[in-house]
Amino acid sequence: MHRNAGIQVRGDCWHIRGPLEFAGTFTPPGDKSLAHRALLLAALASGRCALGNLPESEDVLRTRLGLESLGVPIAIDARACRVRGVGLRGLTAAGDAIDCGNSGTTLRLLLGVLAAQSFPSELRGDASLSGRPMRRVVAPLRAMGAQVTCFGADERPPLAITPGSRRLRGVDHQLSVDSAQVRSAILLAGVAAEGVTRIRPVSAARDHTERMLRSLGVEMPRDPEGTTLVPVQVPWSAFSFAIPGDLSAVAFFAARTAAPPDALCASAVGLNPGRMRFVEILADAGVEVTWEEQRSELCEPSGTLRVAGVMQRPLRIAGADTVRCIDEIPALLAGAVAAGVEARVEDAAELRVKESDRVAAMTQLLRAFGAVVHESADALHVEAGARLRAAHVHSRGDHRVAMAAAILAAATPGDSVVDGVRCVRTSYPGFADDFSRLARAR
Ligand code: S3P
Repeated sequence: MHRNAGIQVRGDCWHIRGPLEFAGTFTPPGDKSLAHRALLLAALASGRCALGNLPESEDVLRTRLGLESLGVPIAIDARACRVRGVGLRGLTAAGDAIDCGNSGTTLRLLLGVLAAQSFPSELRGDASLSGRPMRRVVAPLRAMGAQVTCFGADERPPLAITPGSRRLRGVDHQLSVDSAQVRSAILLAGVAAEGVTRIRPVSAARDHTERMLRSLGVEMPRDPEGTTLVPVQVPWSAFSFAIPGDLSAVAFFAARTAAPPDALCASAVGLNPGRMRFVEILADAGVEVTWEEQRSELCEPSGTLRVAGVMQRPLRIAGADTVRCIDEIPALLAGAVAAGVEARVEDAAELRVKESDRVAAMTQLLRAFGAVVHESADALHVEAGARLRAAHVHSRGDHRVAMAAAILAAATPGDSVVDGVRCVRTSYPGFADDFSRLARAR
């Protein structure tokens, strides 16, 4: 028998008494990356689209509100989010600057769409988003002929897009950062441009935009050097899409699961191979993982994922793997410290420009719970055998840091407190409920 255990939510804090572990079956919220793209592609389709399982995350709400302000009719009922697509040239000017809140995906992907429009737009965000780099996406869009002004220092938001006298032209772009957001922004601008767009080299980052565009009929051949997109003359047809569950949300509970024969089971979760690297990394570290694909829509596979046990061997993440599991690194680090194994994350400069500086934030967090951590410009090394101690920590306003803190608190005997947890609404508003449903005393 296991006593009930979980998070007590008090204002902007979580109170957690460990040690706990996670087991049982749950359905994670709809995938945030897929939801942004599904909304944008539905808005640009011709006709009525139905999106099932749209997550209630604030980031996704920002994309939805942004599109509504651009004249896209969107309604939510009990079964689906219904988007009346206006086609590639049917958007209309928003009355005001579009507020992207904390959401980098909203800002960067909308920027790609708006760069190709014949009306002016402005995009802004909160303090965290206003500090994030935009040159990586603004530069290729300018090379396509877009006129983008950045009002923040060093090409940071807010941004203004002024329509040029000509249509955008395709670009041959060499990626400076391996980022799915950058690739997606270029592709979304490229569909409405004159001439083909090429992106090189082949990238390790998630390929949702490519899969979805291809399955909607956009011609996008891939060769050993990169991807080419042929612009479309007529918009894609309306579509329905049940958004698979978010693997990055599952990662937190997967980092601290009960030992076999018990397990954590996530149903209807996205199984895109580009997002599965963290699962393989868990398996390499000795965690038992199995998955079964049950359906595929818009080339996005989904199914059941089963995880049991904790890490037994050192965790190593470097090179393309760092890109492939960039959002799961906080969860993986928390799981490694909880299990007492060594962890090394390298080539991780990008982690410094997420919703917070995640190298610094995770270093501070892991140290607070008793780990010995060495931090450098683009790497983080955690020594094996942390002596866990309960802690009072702050999220720094970063949702993934807050959830990683909750997993560390779950692993640690005693009472821990995580402050500044409202930010979790940006990605996983139901996190505390799922935590309490799946947690049990160890
Ligand atoms: C995302 C891409 C990643 C990821 C982010 C979501 C996306 O960012 O960290 O949470 O949906 O395209 P980068 O493209 O900046 O690496």
